[in-house]
Amino acid sequence: MGGHFQKSILITGGAGFIGSHVVRRFVSKYKEYRVFNLDALTYAGNLENLNDIEHESNYTFIKGDITDTEFINITFDQNKFDGVIHLAAESHVDRSITDPLSFVKTNVLGTVNLLNASLKLAKQNPNFKFYHISTDEVYGALGETGLFSENSPYSPNSPYSASKASSDHFVRAYGETYGLPYMISNCSNNYGPNQFPEKLIPLFINNIIRDKPLPVYGHGNYTRDWLYVIDHAMAIDLVYHEGKAGETYNIGGFNERKNIDLVELLCKVMDKKLDRANGSSEKLITFVKDRPGHDLRYAIDASKIKNELGWEPTVTFEQGLGQTIDWYLANQEWLDHVTSGDYREYYKKQYQH
Ligand code: NAD
Ligand code: TYD
Repeated sequence: MGGHFQKSILITGGAGFIGSHVVRRFVSKYKEYRVFNLDALTYAGNLENLNDIEHESNYTFIKGDITDTEFINITFDQNKFDGVIHLAAESHVDRSITDPLSFVKTNVLGTVNLLNASLKLAKQNPNFKFYHISTDEVYGALGETGLFSENSPYSPNSPYSASKASSDHFVRAYGETYGLPYMISNCSNNYGPNQFPEKLIPLFINNIIRDKPLPVYGHGNYTRDWLYVIDHAMAIDLVYHEGKAGETYNIGGFNERKNIDLVELLCKVMDKKLDRANGSSEKLITFVKDRPGHDLRYAIDASKIKNELGWEPTVTFEQGLGQTIDWYLANQEWLDHVTSGDYREYYKKQYQH
């Protein structure tokens, strides 16, 4: 099987939020590639995200854990990938505060496992490349002004960002020490369809639909730079194909919003879409205890990827937010499924090996 494919690509974490958009893009756009999606299907992974492409002949799902060294070695030996796009991770800051070790396991040990297996393939294939997907949170927090660039010093503040910073360093070290061809990109906050309702935007959309409180941390005076997930998937496609080995690219939306302003906008749009009286969603806003170590502001200078690779976001925040809300309103079954443990267990059992 697979003899007619020109290349095979491994995408890790493809059942998650960003990964599913990357898998869809590669499967649909590159029929000549065989696309493997390797995912452990944790609470954040859901194969329902890929219902529309799961029967494509160039798509293969492999259920497995990147921290399982033997399994990873066997999978790499069997499939001889030409490249890896690594997205599998524990991804939520709040969870990292209550359970840092699982972030070290998946984000650090899991990444090093993949790097070791990749080295073997890179020895046999001079065109092999390892592309690591990371976050702007590795740079720490900005004050009221300034932007993160590729040269900003690493200064992670949360267990999540510390684990991602560590994995970035390992990727770079494998390039320097063993000559592994790699790229890294550090992206700002994503939003869009299929994001698990624990991050700010999907959590608040879900809570507004269900008439539940909207827990704004502190006074909501924190700033994030928001990027529509499909624009991120386009950037990943570009970096994978055109990026230079050994380089880092920052990806951002040129779109800073204070949390409280974003939440107020979201409430207004939701009132309209749900045909509720203006101001009803805003009444759900509840100011709660702040997150410990809360980073004040993130903002990305994305001029390198723009100048060198010609990438720019294609969707404005208003468009992206509207499309995101429409998707959640049309996919309330998806919301019910991902928040129900039984459903996740069902999917996990189907793919037990
Ligand atoms: P997500 O939490 O939605 O998905 C993560 C996926 O990884 C899930 O499908 C999960 O099942 C899988 N996974 C977790 N542990 C695994 C393991 N041990 N073995 C195999 N699979 C495992 O995350 P996301 O928001 O889509 O983020 C994807 C990547 O992008 C992460 O590396 C994250 O750090 C990075 N990133 C995310 C954002 C963002 O705003 N969400 C921004 C910048 C970078
Ligand atoms: P989040 O979506 O968790 O992403 P990150 O922490 O990686 O930036 O949070 C985005 C911002 O929203 C951040 O400043 C924390 C804030 N926030 C709340 O105020 N309430 C919430 O319930 C959540 C999940 C986040």
